[in-house]
Amino acid sequence: MTAITVEGSRNFFGRLQVPGDKSISHRALMIAALGRRPCTITGLSNGDDVVRTRRAVEALGAQVEVGESGVVTVTGGVRGARGPIDLGNSGTGIRLLAGLVAGFDFTTTLDGDASIRQRPMDRIIDPLTEMGASIKGSGENGSLAPLTIEGRPLRGIEYTLPVASAQVKSAVLLAALRAEGPTTVHETVPTRTHTEEMLADAGVRLEREACSVTVWPGEVEPPDVEVLGDPSQAAFWVVGACVAPGSHFIVENVYLGPARGGFIEVLGRMGADITVESSTGNIVTRSSELEGTRVTAEELPGCIDEVPILAVAAAAAEGDTVFEGIGELRVKETDRVAAIAEMLAVLGAGCRIDDDMLAITGVGRAEALGSGTVDSRGDHRMAMAAAIAGAVGRGSMTVEGFEATNTSYPSFARNLEHSTVWAP
Ligand code: S3P
Repeated sequence: MTAITVEGSRNFFGRLQVPGDKSISHRALMIAALGRRPCTITGLSNGDDVVRTRRAVEALGAQVEVGESGVVTVTGGVRGARGPIDLGNSGTGIRLLAGLVAGFDFTTTLDGDASIRQRPMDRIIDPLTEMGASIKGSGENGSLAPLTIEGRPLRGIEYTLPVASAQVKSAVLLAALRAEGPTTVHETVPTRTHTEEMLADAGVRLEREACSVTVWPGEVEPPDVEVLGDPSQAAFWVVGACVAPGSHFIVENVYLGPARGGFIEVLGRMGADITVESSTGNIVTRSSELEGTRVTAEELPGCIDEVPILAVAAAAAEGDTVFEGIGELRVKETDRVAAIAEMLAVLGAGCRIDDDMLAITGVGRAEALGSGTVDSRGDHRMAMAAAIAGAVGRGSMTVEGFEATNTSYPSFARNLEHSTVWAP
């Protein structure tokens, strides 16, 4: 395990680009693998999760070449993998690939690290099985990875998501490409829309209504894709610049599509000085005094990955911030409810957890945040949230398990070094 120590009392000054969006990168590789003609992907995430997906599509038969300028060329072809495919820490990788391979006539074993082996897979096993897939999971109820998927002919279904999850929606939509008849997925709360948008761009017949999407089976003609910066990574710098006095920071060329910018709205309600330039995708943040807000269960999926860093904003704010409908956070890379509670204790902020509700009482300003040691619990977003809290707080913060940042943002530590200066 690698630990880093971040000195506090810093502010954020300058500009940077974050890695390509992780969700879009996974999908770009998978959709390209399903096509026949070569296509290019620019700006692919360099995090380990996406590297695993790249290796997975290669193992399944696609050819992937990385050019000098980082442009990736994929020549599709899915024929089946020889051995088990290891998706590492990636929930998106394992769940979407399960849907992708379910209708091919070969057997695939999908596996991952210790965290992945504890995360619920019944949420994809259930709808895919309803479509006719054969999936054998592990664990007492067969609902955990590794998953062995014996390809079968699939039929289209109509499915209402029992949890607000873009991963589940996407697994079903990818399986739908090889099913007989159309498949419709209904959502009660909207989640990120990358899969439906990217399948439509790839020429797939698809209809969207307010809270449902229908996909018809058919060939995929993947276009070239340019992956913009990941808003979930931008959120770390945005919160840092909001709470550290004397900051003025620009994150450039960020993806600003539906169900991904929820954290900007939440911070705006808290009083943050953030300007989004839609023509450039730049997010410009100046320091401001924050106060608590209420994040409802309906808006949570739009900022689900940003809750760890929003918790840092809430800890520095004046008053109470309440997050409702937090159940899904317990089954992320770690139990993020428990991990956030641990981090808040180190920061000296108040924390109350009541079923599906998390209430944080802020200390009023960044300089009053406490410091000490936070364990990432192997979770990249917890590691980065704790590091930002350390940079803006008064003491020095040690983040254990910092190597988890490689999952999505290998250059995070370097960026932190270059984007912070000692506060005047
Ligand atoms: C993702 C969806 C979200 C998110 C994850 C990426 C995706 O998970 O937390 O980091 O790319 O579809 P759920 O759909 O399980 O909420």
